[in-house]
Amino acid sequence: MPVQLQHSGYSAEKLQSLTESLPCREAQASTLLALMGEPDQYSYPSIFIYGHRASGKSYVTLRVLKELELPHAAVSCVECVSPGLLFEQVLLSLFGHTAASSLPRCPSLSDFVRLYKQLCSQNPAKQTRYIVLDRAELLRDMEVNLLPGFLRLQELVDDNVTVILLSEIVWDKFRPNTGLFEPLLLHFPDYTKAELQKILARDSHPSYPQELYSFYINILLGVFYSVCRDLRELRHLAALNFPKFCEPLENGEAKESDTHKLWRNIEPHLKKAMQTVYLREISSVQWEQQQEMMEKEAMAPKGLSAYTHVELPYYSKFLLIAAYLASYNPARTDRRFFLKHHGKMKKTNFLKKHEKTSNHLLGPKPFPLDRLLAIFYSVVDSRVAPTASVFSQISSLVTLQLLTLVGHDDQLDSPKYKCAVSLDFICAISRTVSFDIVRYLYDFL
Ligand SMILES: Nc1ncnc2c1ncn2[C@@H]1O[C@H](COP(=O)(O)OP(=O)(O)OP(=O)(O)O)[C@@H](O)[C@H]1O
Ligand SMILES: [Mg+2]
Repeated sequence: MPVQLQHSGYSAEKLQSLTESLPCREAQASTLLALMGEPDQYSYPSIFIYGHRASGKSYVTLRVLKELELPHAAVSCVECVSPGLLFEQVLLSLFGHTAASSLPRCPSLSDFVRLYKQLCSQNPAKQTRYIVLDRAELLRDMEVNLLPGFLRLQELVDDNVTVILLSEIVWDKFRPNTGLFEPLLLHFPDYTKAELQKILARDSHPSYPQELYSFYINILLGVFYSVCRDLRELRHLAALNFPKFCEPLENGEAKESDTHKLWRNIEPHLKKAMQTVYLREISSVQWEQQQEMMEKEAMAPKGLSAYTHVELPYYSKFLLIAAYLASYNPARTDRRFFLKHHGKMKKTNFLKKHEKTSNHLLGPKPFPLDRLLAIFYSVVDSRVAPTASVFSQISSLVTLQLLTLVGHDDQLDSPKYKCAVSLDFICAISRTVSFDIVRYLYDFL
């Protein structure tokens, strides 16, 4: 049973709706409210809220201030390249446009304090004003007097104002020297798995029942919780993969009660997503497109028509062709295929017919970059070889998973690649550039 927030200074209704909007953070919100005290009384000068990423620091603080309609200024220090911008945003939110524009150019902390004092004497606080400084650790890199100044702003400007600092970093790392005014500390612990489940399940989809969504979140956390506990990321992944989860329901293959079927459908998909999306190798949009493409590929008949969606740059096609040849031809045959005047090569030597197994059955073999380039320049030959951009095209092919990089991280100087496309695919590509690839494949001689 969640704790109901209580406070004599605010209406029960507001507190009720505030409690509902802060699942799993009732305790922290209630501490914060207690620290803030009665609206018309002075509150503690500064409060320091810390906790890991996405632990709800910004969310809870701002919800409390907004829901209870308290006068406040919320500023993210990331957006303030200079202290001037920071001062301006604070004054703007607390006292309005004209106030903010009376700051001098490149104002110092004392300019800010002077102006603030003047403004609040014209407009005395009826209730505590709050200044929220998000990503407060950045204050340390700004002018040295800024952080100490904000910590005891209440005293400097002689106003009923409280500064709330939010940071991922613990307070100990903020003390450059002694004599800093110590704020009250409030810690936001990480969400547990059960809490994440509860928060994420609240996002349920309008056209599906709540229990189904909750079941989906349970599967999602089962896959991702070991590698990712960030609420923001998880929420993004949940939204991204939900349509896939619903697919069997949409096309009538499963009912909502067929939980096992739904699980079997989504789990491998999520595992795949874990490898790519979370590592941010590719963007979510790209990933979705890739999945769609792979699905289409699996369904459509093989042949040129199946690959019409692959539109590679002209020379990338040749690179891919070269890669295919390097992967499926034995290196010793390169001379015969790609050297114009390869001289005499004994036919028996070249065609070792006792080599019964086809290279195509063995699968692609890795090859070094220089071999790829040698073959590439030989096959583009008459078509004017490009000079630059070959390397970037190779890495694009790797990104598209048409080539795979094999070998270890420590072999930076000699990367090896494998061609990852099928014979059908490469034949289709070759046809688009009028290259008769079969003539160059050892297996088909
Ligand atoms: N208890 C909660 N209920 C619902 N949503 C939440 C809750 N806690 C956090 N969120 C959501 O998770 C996201 C991250 O929360 P928030 O921005 O508050 O994290 P933070 O602690 O400020 O992280 P950072 O240090 O990265 O700024 C937000 O989109 C917020 O809406
Ligand atoms: Mg934040």
